[in-house]
Amino acid sequence: MEFDVEKVRKDFPILATQMNGKRLIYLDSAATSQKPRQVINAVARHYRKRNANIHRGIYKLSEEATEEYTKSKDAVARFIHAKGYRNIVYFRSTTEAINAVARAWGDANVGSGDHVLITEMEHHSNIVPWQMLAKRKGAHLDYVKLKDRSELDMEDYKSKLALKPKMVAVTHVSNVLGTINGVNEITRMAHETGASVLIDGAQSVPHMPVGVSGMDADFVAFSGHKMLGPSGIGVLYGKEDVLETMEPFHGGGDMIRSVDFQESTWNELPWKFEAGTQNMEGAAGLAAAVKYLKKLGMENVRAHEKALTLYALDKLKDAGVTVYGPGNEEIDRRGSVISFSMKGAHAHDIAQVLDSEGIAVRSGHHCAMPLVTKVLNEPAVPRMSFYIYNTQVEIDAAVAALGKVREVLKRGA
Ligand code: ALA
Repeated sequence: MEFDVEKVRKDFPILATQMNGKRLIYLDSAATSQKPRQVINAVARHYRKRNANIHRGIYKLSEEATEEYTKSKDAVARFIHAKGYRNIVYFRSTTEAINAVARAWGDANVGSGDHVLITEMEHHSNIVPWQMLAKRKGAHLDYVKLKDRSELDMEDYKSKLALKPKMVAVTHVSNVLGTINGVNEITRMAHETGASVLIDGAQSVPHMPVGVSGMDADFVAFSGHKMLGPSGIGVLYGKEDVLETMEPFHGGGDMIRSVDFQESTWNELPWKFEAGTQNMEGAAGLAAAVKYLKKLGMENVRAHEKALTLYALDKLKDAGVTVYGPGNEEIDRRGSVISFSMKGAHAHDIAQVLDSEGIAVRSGHHCAMPLVTKVLNEPAVPRMSFYIYNTQVEIDAAVAALGKVREVLKRGA
């Protein structure tokens, strides 16, 4: 299918709105994506036509709600080339999915003195749950270092693998640097040493073709709200045999087969991980989001974002900023986020000037404090991030607004 950005834009009602009296230019999709009318309608349709509690009623409406929910998981499974809905657990977010693995898998498999290996480019979701696990168990949390403040140092990775970690947990795409990590190779090397692998796909699954079968990781986590879906729904993909061995993360209704006064037995996959009434409208919205992305084609999504990123990297060369992460000659290793800094300007001031022009960018540590404050040595950085609805004209506007920041700086000097 031909990728037509103007046609795509028409599906996103929010893009026709204004911010500070200017047409909104939304360059913060790494934080959360905007939603097309197809997703908004799917959520509304769920409430209008399908709202009943799943797995609980023997009446028709509940059966239809259950079918809609299971079909949503099938659609997500197909989207990431997993076998089927049994591999797909819905949590609230990537964060909750990783917490579930750190608890339900980690408590059973990581003991005192064991090692867990993550990297210096993780965001907090893939740091804090492992810190908590390490504290609970008296385990060591090791970090793969970065090379050139840009990519994983694979020599350091090899040397840390020699410590025989029980778990290697790595982001597929850095939400600050944009670096695309070679997760197939990372997983292969980890498995060779006997480690299990979790890939944080929050910044990759929405933006490029991702196939869990080729990747071969034991777990992959990602969020609905970053891929056009509603917030409050996140995905944990797990290999079936691994999920089977795990204890549940949450206890409550629906995750059980039977409950007695002292003991309970667990439901089958994937329901044993989903306690209580689920985010059913979220599942309906996520299915619509996946359908929308599939129709566009993930190759086309990646190609569009790659072109935008190349364009922006080029324009930023003359904008008086330092750009972090792989350069445009390494575009195949770079996703569509661009963090940068401007000498003499605080990140928040830059974001505020852009805001006054109707341009939304994120500024701060991007939930990756160790990377931003210790590796990049910045208190905060502004970040532009692109998605299917962004255009070169919007990038031109952002670069022009950076010119205004430079003028303000000059006047103040
Ligand atoms: N991790 C999200 C971001 O990068 C929230 O903005």
